[in-house]
Amino acid sequence: MSEKPADRIDGLVRELNEHNYRYNVLNAPIIPDQDFDRLLRELIELEAEHPDLVRPDSPTQRVGSDLSETFPTVVHNIPMLSLDNTYSEDELREFETRIRRELPSEDLCYVAELKIDGVALSLTYENGLLVRGVTRGDGVRGEDITPNVKTIPSIPIRLREPVDRCEVRGEVYLAHKTFQAINREREKAGETPFANPRNAAAGSLKLRDPRLVAKRRLSFFAYFFRTPDPPFHTHAETLDYLQHLRFAVNSERAVCDTLDDIVDHIHAWDRKRDTLPYDIDGVVVKLNATSQQDKLSATSKAPRWAIAFKFSAQQAETVLRRIVLQVGRTGVVTPVAELEPVLLAGTTVSRATLHNREELERKEIREGDTVRLEKGGDVIPKVVEVIREKRPAGSRPFRFPDACPVCNTPLVHDKVEVAIRCINTRCPAQVKANILHFASRTAMDIEGLGVALVNQLVDNTNTRVHDAGDLYSLDMETLAGLERMAQKSAQNLLDALKASRARPFHRVLFALGIRHVGATVARALADAFGSIDRLREASIEDLEAVHEIGPAIARSLHDFLRAEQNRAVIEKLRAAGVQLEAEQQAHTGPGPLEGKTVVITGALSRWGRQQAQDLVRSLGGKPTSSLSKKTDLVVVGENPGSKKDKAEAFGIRILNEEAFAELIGEG
Ligand code: IVH
Repeated sequence: MSEKPADRIDGLVRELNEHNYRYNVLNAPIIPDQDFDRLLRELIELEAEHPDLVRPDSPTQRVGSDLSETFPTVVHNIPMLSLDNTYSEDELREFETRIRRELPSEDLCYVAELKIDGVALSLTYENGLLVRGVTRGDGVRGEDITPNVKTIPSIPIRLREPVDRCEVRGEVYLAHKTFQAINREREKAGETPFANPRNAAAGSLKLRDPRLVAKRRLSFFAYFFRTPDPPFHTHAETLDYLQHLRFAVNSERAVCDTLDDIVDHIHAWDRKRDTLPYDIDGVVVKLNATSQQDKLSATSKAPRWAIAFKFSAQQAETVLRRIVLQVGRTGVVTPVAELEPVLLAGTTVSRATLHNREELERKEIREGDTVRLEKGGDVIPKVVEVIREKRPAGSRPFRFPDACPVCNTPLVHDKVEVAIRCINTRCPAQVKANILHFASRTAMDIEGLGVALVNQLVDNTNTRVHDAGDLYSLDMETLAGLERMAQKSAQNLLDALKASRARPFHRVLFALGIRHVGATVARALADAFGSIDRLREASIEDLEAVHEIGPAIARSLHDFLRAEQNRAVIEKLRAAGVQLEAEQQAHTGPGPLEGKTVVITGALSRWGRQQAQDLVRSLGGKPTSSLSKKTDLVVVGENPGSKKDKAEAFGIRILNEEAFAELIGEG
């Protein structure tokens, strides 16, 4: 081939981006996957030979490998507003009346778009190249998640035209199929499945590793475009232009001259929403003429020229086959409905929680009943009511048992938490749930230790797994004797267990599954006491002296560390070499905040609250939320409130954000 490498690379990038667009946006590929892969391989090889010729819009640049510790906060050029919601036709008519008052003699025209149930995202392009992707955040500031955004296949890295500078906004979402695949994988890995596609999309965007984000196959619909001089007079033209620029724009949009047409459109989609391959939660109605939008402008929360008509929760009817009882990690017994599988809001539902005994009795739910299910915006399906007319003859009220369905220990009614509880801490159901929590990603992160395997480990007496501490005594021979356990997966599990011994102490503390001790509390405890032994020596008062710790946590922790069974687990972990002591902070020499108690008040622009606190910790300081005479330093952001005055009264050193950044060497 006589072509120069630079030209070949340019050609390949152009060609691959075109195919990528056809595949991911138009859903109309014109070459087979193998051909695409062949071209991509050629590009990868050429780029490896000529690293200086790698172009920023090369498809190889979509997935970076840099892990980001934190996402920087950025201020939106134009605030990302929300939309006012309506739920009825009348409210929609009022929306028009308000517009008519402002624009009495003008013709009105609207665009109706589907309201995609996803996560809003802002994209900035310079000279046609994607330079930044930012979450909505609080509308004023969002998080810069550019490396993750680049992995979304339907977001163009380069626009069809080199538009000088523009911002595009839209919705990141997950198609039902992709969502289901993600949840299947999570369940296999012993992780909690996402409740709905929106949560899954939001969680995916915040992953620290873009390679993992790429695997989530997120999608994007654009619905907003802004340049210094907008070239169009209507929203409809703007949407067409976005499509021309290579964005996916939802095709189910309608331009309507009357509100009646809009209403028809809304009703049609309320009926048809099930047929879409993704979730929508309503229809957005926008004034079409940009001049009219400008005249109406916005309140501090939402534009006056647009409104969201929200659909009510979707419902379905099905037969409740059986009521089963689930015993959770803390022994709480939850009744769960096993259902005749039914399609609801794009997913097949076969189980629904019945919450607790009271709920079951209040709704008079029986096995065999036909029930109405509902899935709201963000919840697991619930049983709304029993359809009495369809109750089969001879059915009987459900009797809540007196003993644990798993270990037969008499159940106890916990009146404070409105719960029925199995108090046998050796109950296999609790043991399994505890081990799963111990192994979960945010705890000890033991890959491969999922539900099926934990069930086997606990049920099979040869393994001698009675608690999380026993995991570390597992050996090749025992594991290889388990069902569906190949040598390779056994070795992987042993490796994962070994690796988990390096998890920092605060994660171990969280992994123990102590009631009320979540990840944040565990970190605060680890910071304040430094080791499990010092925690055990601490009195309830000592524990409560830590800012984040209230009486309930202190009591729960105190009791936990004194219970014989838990002490045994801790000793097994110690013997296995698990970290029961906090490492010395990884900073070199005494940092500027060494030993200092720091209170942050008001909003900082560079760091979120959690981030700033982590930063203080990493520099040897101790972040606290309440101010006292012992506080060494107060960092004051925007709208600081009364803490600033109090600090002044105490004569404590006060720094603004700039001075603080300066002090810690980030100025
Ligand atoms: S327009 C100022 N159009 O709904 C204009 N939003 O409840 C604001 N959304 O934050 C957005 N589909 O995340 C618009 N076709 C659509 C939308 C849409 C979904 C989301 C968006 C917004 C939220 C407001």
